[in-house]
Amino acid sequence: MLPAMTTDARSRRNYLPDERPPVDLAGIVRLRDFEAPARERIHPAAWAYYAGGGYDEHVLADTLAAWDAFRLRPRVLTGVTGIDATTTILGRPASLPIGIAPAALHGLAHREGELATARAATAAGAIHVVSTVASHTIEDVAAAAPGGRRWFQLYVQRERAVTRALVERAAAAGYEALCLTVDLPVLGYRDEVLRLHFDPGADAYANLPRRDVWRPDADLDEMVDMRSVELTWNDLDEIRSWAPIPLVLKGILTAEDARLAVEHGADAVWVSNHGGRQLDRVAAGIDVLEGIVDAVEGRAEVYLDGGIRRAPEILPAPALGARAVFTARPFLWALACAGEAGVTHGFGILREELERGLALMGTPTPASLTRGHVTRVRGA
Ligand SMILES: Cc1cc2nc3c(=O)[nH]c(=O)nc-3n(C[C@H](O)[C@H](O)[C@H](O)COP(=O)(O)O)c2cc1C
Repeated sequence: MLPAMTTDARSRRNYLPDERPPVDLAGIVRLRDFEAPARERIHPAAWAYYAGGGYDEHVLADTLAAWDAFRLRPRVLTGVTGIDATTTILGRPASLPIGIAPAALHGLAHREGELATARAATAAGAIHVVSTVASHTIEDVAAAAPGGRRWFQLYVQRERAVTRALVERAAAAGYEALCLTVDLPVLGYRDEVLRLHFDPGADAYANLPRRDVWRPDADLDEMVDMRSVELTWNDLDEIRSWAPIPLVLKGILTAEDARLAVEHGADAVWVSNHGGRQLDRVAAGIDVLEGIVDAVEGRAEVYLDGGIRRAPEILPAPALGARAVFTARPFLWALACAGEAGVTHGFGILREELERGLALMGTPTPASLTRGHVTRVRGA
């Protein structure tokens, strides 16, 4: 049993960020530049929740360091006119091969939360994956940015009817894919969250019914109410039957599970260790990407997340067979710094970095990157 959490029955939403003038974006030239000013603006308990990892956080550090084992192999004199970072993801155009990974509670970074994120992602032409445990409702996020490419990330709830309603609402609101997170049968053990008694408040999760989960004796899993302990491969057919939209399985780290995902009809396999927040001592996604791409054999798209901060970390992913990459924390920092304008600025930086990176690689498009454009210098 995990330590009991404290609950202030009067509070509905905790750790709301102060309303402060936005950070001057002129000084922000890389995504990491958002981190320090964001930390000043976010409540310490919310920061611990955003930044933290599981157990001793080895995998949190490993996921950032994993890129050190890779070297890009640029080709020269290829005549790199017509640089084009656009791609297609699940059969539809995306302006960039990078999107926003689902992250809970954008409202802890900025009062407009996912509404601001959605507007910026839509303006950038990028995919925004909205979490089950968002601060704003499925419908409000869709209404904030009509026409955007938006997927709904599903945490299976204990009551099937609640889960089904979430899926149906997302499909009705125009979310174009269901991203089922499969690496969270229970929440990872997160020391800082426990130490600081993280409790975003009874009304923090806009899409979930307010239930008797905030009682003082609840353990951490019950508090966040997102465990899917009973979920198995056999449940996928039922989940797919709830909405006629593609199914993405997020949180795959082995070729065995990637094969099973395809056999069970997944349209895409998302390689992820959940930002190092779940089990410690697991692999970084980039380390297992190639094996998973081989196991999938082109039968589904493959995506990657984890520690992607700059274009030189994006480039190996399409080279090794990923259709797209996603990142979570940098967009939370950007949101905290300047709301919608911050996230828009973040996309601008990524686009500029990536277009230059493609030119420097001698490859005009993400699709023209091949395994020959990357090598591994050490590591497994
Ligand atoms: C604060 C935070 C909240 C997250 N919430 C969710 C979530 O609700 N659903 C989910 O599938 N993944 C969630 N993730 C994991 C991300 O989708 C993603 O796998 C991971 O953070 C990527 O690593 P990065 O933060 O280094 O880019 C969360 C990550 C963070 C940092």
